[in-house]
Amino acid sequence: MDKDAENLMIEVQLLLNAVYLKYGYDFRGYSEASLKRRILRNLAFSGYRNIPELLRHVLCDKSCFEKLLLDLSINVTDMFRDPLFYKAIRDQVLPDLKKLPLIKVWHAGCASGEEVYSMAILFFEAGLHQKTQVYATDFNEKILIAAKEGIYSLEKIKGYTSNYHQSGGKSSFGDYYAARNKHAAIHASFKKNIVFAHHNLVSDGPFGEMDLILCRNVLIYFNRNLQNRVFDLFNDSLDQGGYLCLGSKESLRYSTCSDGFEDFVPKEKIYRKTLGLPV
Ligand SMILES: C[S@@+](CC[C@H](N)C(=O)[O-])C[C@H]1O[C@@H](n2cnc3c(N)ncnc32)[C@H](O)[C@@H]1O
Repeated sequence: MDKDAENLMIEVQLLLNAVYLKYGYDFRGYSEASLKRRILRNLAFSGYRNIPELLRHVLCDKSCFEKLLLDLSINVTDMFRDPLFYKAIRDQVLPDLKKLPLIKVWHAGCASGEEVYSMAILFFEAGLHQKTQVYATDFNEKILIAAKEGIYSLEKIKGYTSNYHQSGGKSSFGDYYAARNKHAAIHASFKKNIVFAHHNLVSDGPFGEMDLILCRNVLIYFNRNLQNRVFDLFNDSLDQGGYLCLGSKESLRYSTCSDGFEDFVPKEKIYRKTLGLPV
């Protein structure tokens, strides 16, 4: 590593330590490359000349930290993102979950809620909405407020409608929201069984007895050690036979708890916690 790159990495570590000591958010296990990109992006937009200057402002100005948090947390998301993933949930996972008296679902890293409402629509169409209990969590309070509101730009709805149909949706997507000015508000009926809550995958504990966990496009930003911690957390949170869904660039293979899961739909990164052996 050349001197400049080495110094940059040291400054990044100092900034992350300061954020952790001052605000309790621990980014030290996030992947170096994405951290570096996001911090440099924050510098470009904030106008600070370098990381030490940013660090000083982060320490004495909470709003500066909040902007950095937004940049580090990367909230990009869509409704029915990767439509074939949702098609696999529709065709292969829901028929099995149908047998349960209550279906408990955890969206970890739910961002502004598009993934959560996409799943709520699937549950509704499968006649399962009434018996689902959904926990949607993120460590970013601001993004959770947007998730609870469920109001999205009408400009994006055209793409979401096409995703929905590619996922096997046969209804009119317009039935699921009310268009107001330039926005689409998801109908309140879809919010009934959803609890939005703060949860930090780095430091918080498991949610018990889940049947389905979605943690898509979150672990890609974590290093191997942190990924293993989070996989253990999901393993502890899932019932036997429960499903774990990751993003297209993420994998459970080669993790410390890989042996306890089967590849259920390998192409869509849907894993299933293997049923315990009979005693
Ligand atoms: C790229 S979005 C993914 C949203 C959605 N799951 C999807 O696939 O479209 C990543 C989300 O993970 C959240 N996140 C990042 N680190 C987290 C952590 N340590 N604990 C909880 N959520 C985290 C971010 O705030 C962000 O909302």
